[in-house]
Amino acid sequence: MSQETSIKKEIEELKKQRNAVILAHYYVDGDVQEIADYVGDSYYLSEVAAGVDKDVIVFAGVSFMGECAKILNPEKTVLMPDGGADCPMAHMVTPEEIAAVREKYEDVAVVTYVNSFAKIKALSDVCVTSSNALKIVKELPNKNIFFIPDHNLGGFLAKQLPEKNFIFNEGHCPTHDRIQVAEVQALKAAHPEAIALAHPECREEICKEADYVGSTKGIIDYALKSPAKEFIILTEKGIMHPLTQQAPDKRFYGLDQEIVCRDMKLITMEKVRDVLRDMPETNQVQMDDQLMQDALTPLERMLELAK
Ligand code: 13P
Ligand code: SF4
Repeated sequence: MSQETSIKKEIEELKKQRNAVILAHYYVDGDVQEIADYVGDSYYLSEVAAGVDKDVIVFAGVSFMGECAKILNPEKTVLMPDGGADCPMAHMVTPEEIAAVREKYEDVAVVTYVNSFAKIKALSDVCVTSSNALKIVKELPNKNIFFIPDHNLGGFLAKQLPEKNFIFNEGHCPTHDRIQVAEVQALKAAHPEAIALAHPECREEICKEADYVGSTKGIIDYALKSPAKEFIILTEKGIMHPLTQQAPDKRFYGLDQEIVCRDMKLITMEKVRDVLRDMPETNQVQMDDQLMQDALTPLERMLELAK
């Protein structure tokens, strides 16, 4: 039996013993996606986490995702395969920035991308993900929108909602930020028939080069439904796994300089096994009750408004 098959077997056994379910984001490595019960974008995974009836959730993703799962389903034990897998963007906004904007504007909605910590969500009016942000912000009664922490996603929304006054901070995704416009143009020149698909965490100049901009799930759905056969993929490399698995007859081109989220890649099958074996001591998501309650309201509002 290969080492990979034996780890998979161990994980299956441990899942039964612990009454556990594994959730994985599209940006983790393909082998981890393969052992997960649910794989998806941030919105789908939040919905799944909220409805889990097993005792334990193993979240193959970064820390804000584990926090969301715990807040939405507090009775469950939520485990992170790597306790250090973090999202740098989640650190890019402070409570003081929110207080300053609330002080300045009377009619303002603080709209917080889920890529943020619970303490920031707790101070927000509503949370959003890249797949529901447009719908949610459009429906808000407020004229002023303080969109945090991703100013690229915020800018993408602002272009489509000229009736709103967007206020941004400086947050961004360092992984998507590495994509250079010259590289994208070279890839387009090399594959003139290919459709370019980008994530809205990319800078505006990159989104302008794309034929479609959307969440990870949006990108996958677009590629699967499109009659086109070739695509340029402008987001984290992990998405190549579902794309090539689900559309083996199509061709997907990435950038030479691979776009890899260091934190998502900290998750391995071995760590999924270890966290299930060593539970509950290792990497359990824990938060103060009051903080969880405060952060739940904007997350629940997101789930409601996204319907
Ligand atoms: P989505 O999967 O919701 O598009 O989010 C991408 C992301 O950056 C997760 O960290
Ligand atoms: Fe954070 Fe970017 Fe990694 Fe997503 S891809 S977890 S936004 S650093």
